Parts: sequence; structure tokens; C-alpha cells
Amino acid sequence: MNAANIEGFLKSTGNDVLQEKMWIEIINRMESLYAKLANRQEEIENKNRELLKTKEFVENIIKNMADALIVLDSKGNIKMVNHTALEILGYKDEEILGRPMELIFEKTDGRSLIMGGSKLEELLRDGVIKDFEIFFRSRDGERIPMVLSGSVMRNTYNDIDAIICVAKDLRDTKRLLAEKARAEAEKAKADELTRAYNKLQELKEQLIQSEKMASLGQLAAGVAHEINNPLSGILTYGHLLLRKLKQDDPNREDIEIIVNETNRCSEIVHGLLDFARQTKPKMVNANITKLIDETLSIMENQFYIKDIKVIKNLKEDTPEIMLDVNQIQQVFINILLNSIEAMSEGGTIRVASDCDQKYVYITFQDNGYGIPEEIIGKIFDPFFTTKSGEKGTGLGLSVSYGIIERHNGTIEVKSKLNEGTTFIIKLPLEESK
Ligand SMILES: Nc1ncnc2c1ncn2[C@@H]1O[C@H](COP(=O)(O)OP(=O)(O)OP(=O)(O)O)[C@@H](O)[C@H]1O
Ligand SMILES: [Mg+2]
Repeated sequence: MNAANIEGFLKSTGNDVLQEKMWIEIINRMESLYAKLANRQEEIENKNRELLKTKEFVENIIKNMADALIVLDSKGNIKMVNHTALEILGYKDEEILGRPMELIFEKTDGRSLIMGGSKLEELLRDGVIKDFEIFFRSRDGERIPMVLSGSVMRNTYNDIDAIICVAKDLRDTKRLLAEKARAEAEKAKADELTRAYNKLQELKEQLIQSEKMASLGQLAAGVAHEINNPLSGILTYGHLLLRKLKQDDPNREDIEIIVNETNRCSEIVHGLLDFARQTKPKMVNANITKLIDETLSIMENQFYIKDIKVIKNLKEDTPEIMLDVNQIQQVFINILLNSIEAMSEGGTIRVASDCDQKYVYITFQDNGYGIPEEIIGKIFDPFFTTKSGEKGTGLGLSVSYGIIERHNGTIEVKSKLNEGTTFIIKLPLEESK
């Protein structure tokens, strides 16, 4: 009931009782209105409390964010920063809020990277940029590498409300990456040095060996030449004497010994001449696998007698190479004989061949008594032997070394005492000199 209605009502009744009723009615309605108002107020207060809680919650999230949060207004002034951002930059809230973003975003060419550069256009066009690397400038001038993502917040009229930037401090990552790169570079350098050192050591050993061989070769060649002629004389006269003597002559046996020993000397001299490169290799095209097979069959009987098992792992399709068949066979025999002699109670010899673009590789591996470390550097020296009496002259390997060298190849040895010895021969596929 409104005021006009009440007036009309009073006039129409003119009655006191009715007037009182009317007031009661008014009061009742006012009370109900007050109650509604009170309810509304409580509702609003509750809403306010909820809003406050939500605000605190959001602020807490922002405060505890591990990344820096920087909110800019549409003019590029700093509107809000979180705790992490302040910590990274070294500013206090009041020193930074309301200031232009150039205070903290490093400029390039006098333009702020984000606001002046093409990145802003990208940000405004797409509403978002992701993982953009920039530098922050801290309060004390430090350039801080950051990776930044940004997004534009617009209101219902599509005007820019704020630009929200979240940035991650890259200093630790960069430092770790730099340390990793440094460590890797150092390791590569150390590896390179080790490789170079090993190579040098290898070259040094090769040089020592070939120098030793060269001078020993000259010496041997000289001595062999000098001895060869008198030896031929001794042999010729020995044979003559034998022919002259009767079968039952008591001197016959002594002279036979002289002839046999002279023959042995002659063999040694030939070995020396081989070693001293006096015999020129007769190069022909040959299949190395076939040659190994042939050599193994020649020696089959000796393996059998000595209870030695031979395991072959030969590459069938190695290309033919130019070599002196007799000389290379001589090398194989020398190596195999040494292996047989190193396995007094039987054992296993593994023979393998392989090739790549440049070389053929032949490996002889025995499980004999091995070579002590202190003598392994000497085994290719002429006359170096550990075999007593007439068993060894110490020429087998030195002759072999000379032959392989003349074929432009290499011969290497690896050995472990009481475990065995391996010889690796490398011959070039290209025509040897
Ligand atoms: N497979 C092997 N196992 C153990 N020692 C070996 C082996 N091959 C070579 N050697 C060592 O190297 C030395 C030199 O070998 P090399 O063949 O030159 O001479 P040798 O066998 O002693 O005598 P020669 O071969 O003239 O009869 C041997 O005396 C031996 O000590
Ligand atoms: Mg030998």
C-alpha cells in the first residue's frame, strides 16, 4: 500500500480503528523489509568473505609461484609483480610498481624487446607468446637471462586490460649447460691427448723397431755375405772329403757332423739375408685365405702329434692381393711353429682372416705359455730366442718382420703370460711396393 492509497483509505473510512490497523500493517511491512535487508546484508558479507578468501588464495598462489610474474597495463607500466620477480630483480614493490617496463626488460636498439619489438606485435596479434628468450636487468645492473611467456588480457570491449608475463630464470640452466659443455670439451681434449699420446707411443715403438731392424739388417747383410762364401767352401770340401772316404772310415761320422752343421749355418745365413732384404720378393696375385689353408694342411701332422686343435675362421671372399707366396707362407709357418713350441701339452690355435676397404687381417692366436712383458719388445730382434740349445736361432720372427715390412704391411703381437699369444698381420689390399 503506497501513501496515496493510505490517504484514500483514511478518507474513505474516517474510522480510528481502521487507522490503527493501517499503522500496524505499515509497521509489519517495514519489519519484514528490515528483515529482508538484514538477510541481504549478511549474504553480501558472506560473499565478501568468500571473495576475500579467493583473493588471498590467488595471492598465495602468485606469491608462491616459482616463476616470476609481471603484469603490465596497456601502456606498458608495471601493474603487479610477485615475490619471485622481486627476488630475481632485487627491487622492492614500491620501487617498481607504476614504473615503465623498460626498467626491467632490457632494450635492444633502444627499443624494449617486448613492447617496442616485433614480439609485441606478435603478442597483440595472437594474444600470446611462448618461451621467448630475453634479458632482465636487475636493480644492480646484472643481465639476467630469462625465458618468457606472455598473454594479453582484454575486457568485454576488447580493450587491453593487462599483459601478463611469466618468466623463468635461466641462470642455473645456462650455468649447468655451460659447465656441461666445458666438462665435455675438457673430456674431449683429454681423450684427444690420450689418443695422440698412444699414437705417439706406437709410432715411437715402430720407429725404434724399424731403426733397430735397419741397422741390424745392414750388419746382418754384411756378415752373411762374408760368411756365405767360406761356408760354401767348407760345404764343397766336406762333400768332397765324404766322397773320398770309405763307408767304414772312422772319420766319416765327424765329417758328416761338419757338413750338417755347416748346412745349418747356411740356412741361418739365408735367414739373415731374407731378413736383410737381400732376397727380392716375387709378387704375384694370390688369395690369402687359400694360402692360409694350404699352410695349415702342410702343418697338419705337427698339430696332430702335439695334440693341437686348429679352429679356423677365415673370410672366404677376401680380394686377391699381390704378395710373394713363399715368403708369406714362411711367415705363417714361423708363427705357427712358435705357437706349437709354446704349447708343450697341446692346446688350441685359432686362425682368422678378415678384410676391410684397405687391408687384409690375419690373426694367429694360441693358448700357450705366453710372452713375459719384459721380453715382448725384443722378440722381433734377430737372434733373440728363449729356446735353449739347438731348439731356436731367434730368426723366425725377425725374418717374418722383414717379409711383412717388404709387403708394406705390419705385424703386431699381444700376449698374456700363461694365457696365450696373438699375432696380427695386416697386409694392404693395394699393390705392395
Ligand atoms: N707364440 C709364442 N708364444 C710364446 N713365446 C713366443 C711365441 N712366439 C714367439 N715367442 C718368443 O719369441 C722368441 C723369438 O721367436 P723367433 O721365432 O724369432 O725365434 P725362435 O722361435 O726362438 O727361434 P727360430 O724361430 O729361429 O727357430 C721365442 O724364442 C719365444 O721366446
Ligand atoms: Mg720361431
